[in-house]
Amino acid sequence: MPLHKWIAGATAAAIASSIEQGLHRGRTAPGDPLPTVRELADGLEVSPATVAAAYKVLRHRGLISGHGRRGTLVARRPPTPHSARHEPSPTGAIDLTTGNPDPSLLPPLAPALAAIDPEPRLYGTPQHVRAFTTFAAGEFEADGIDARFVTVVSGALDGIERILREHLRPGDHVAVEDPAFPGLLDLLKVSAFIVVPFGLDDQGPLPEDVEAALRRKCHAIVITPRAQNPTGGVISERRGRELQRILRAFPGVVLVENDYAGPISGVPSMTLSAAAERWAVVRSTSKFLGPDLRVAVMAGDEVTISRVQGRQALGARWVSGILQQLALALWSDPSSGRRLARAADVYAQRRTTLLDGLAARGVEARGRSGLNIWVPVREESVVTQALAARGWAVAAGERFRIASPPGIRVTIATLSSPEAERFADALADAMRPSSRGAA
Ligand SMILES: Cc1ncc(COP(=O)(O)O)c(C=O)c1O
Repeated sequence: MPLHKWIAGATAAAIASSIEQGLHRGRTAPGDPLPTVRELADGLEVSPATVAAAYKVLRHRGLISGHGRRGTLVARRPPTPHSARHEPSPTGAIDLTTGNPDPSLLPPLAPALAAIDPEPRLYGTPQHVRAFTTFAAGEFEADGIDARFVTVVSGALDGIERILREHLRPGDHVAVEDPAFPGLLDLLKVSAFIVVPFGLDDQGPLPEDVEAALRRKCHAIVITPRAQNPTGGVISERRGRELQRILRAFPGVVLVENDYAGPISGVPSMTLSAAAERWAVVRSTSKFLGPDLRVAVMAGDEVTISRVQGRQALGARWVSGILQQLALALWSDPSSGRRLARAADVYAQRRTTLLDGLAARGVEARGRSGLNIWVPVREESVVTQALAARGWAVAAGERFRIASPPGIRVTIATLSSPEAERFADALADAMRPSSRGAA
């Protein structure tokens, strides 16, 4: 069957919905090519303008990407349920793609569940479990973050989406790290914001890049102060001061700090927030209590926090009180400080073991903080395929990058020392120019 025979419709809306249905039904999958405008127009006997309008609708909804010489593709992570045809992972491959925490380093649930107040929370009760926001405010204050205004949302991405929606309109520009977490890039794209990338090194965002990005009329900037995903970067004190100087020159810009890994980052908290009038620090529990216990506490200026809270009250209404109580119990328990410090140490040791192993083999890699390291490579697909053939799955950097050079992301969360040595051997081998062409 020719590529486009499953696509039907005589109007732009019908064609767009036929492609969307094809995605649900598995006739096409993320990353697949779609016909060119002309091919599809000929096949459906409609005008090219009709097909172009259908593609425009799908592009705005984040369902398709690209055009120009690479052609139009189904988006890699379309915001709709789909029957993705997963690449078969090699039998017995060790999966280092996930970004997940090590389940054995997450806190045990049973004691915290027993500590929950069984009284039902009904409509009309406050949005927040007061003890949780009080605790969170104490944590923020201990880290030098103004915590007069604090609210609770359903994770880092939920918080970021809410902040941007309250301050920005579709078509507004948002400055973002390059490379960055694909979940954030996808979210910005489907929200119809225009992404303006800035580069970073191990000390944080590059000041001249940030300044250039903000000059391009950015309305907001999203920064990961520690455990930058994928590079593991941390903003140094000196870099922080330079960045604050720049932010002060752009007082209209909303600063969003994404502290998604919190206390298991392995480095102290740092913030630029004192330099912004409109700002929020979003601290998620995903990585240290587990993704299923995802809540985030958010500190910010009065306008930002009250807008987020007010809008949330109309739709999602509140984050389950049971979840807030659980997060509080697991995070504030007297033993939790020790447990979190231990988890941070274990992750740091796994990261360092792999970085040292790679350095000993002449492979340069980055990762000062968090659950991942980033290895610059020449050809991502050559390296990922060579590693797959050796029994390792890693994430190609493509989905993280906007204009930055290629790399691969390796999640170190569960990597034991012997595994790190074996993986370092495999990666050094995969990157050797003689290994299946230049890598
Ligand atoms: C940079 C970054 N932000 C946000 C998230 C997701 O956080 P949450 O699950 O709290 O939305 C992740 C998850 O890995 C991440 O890497």
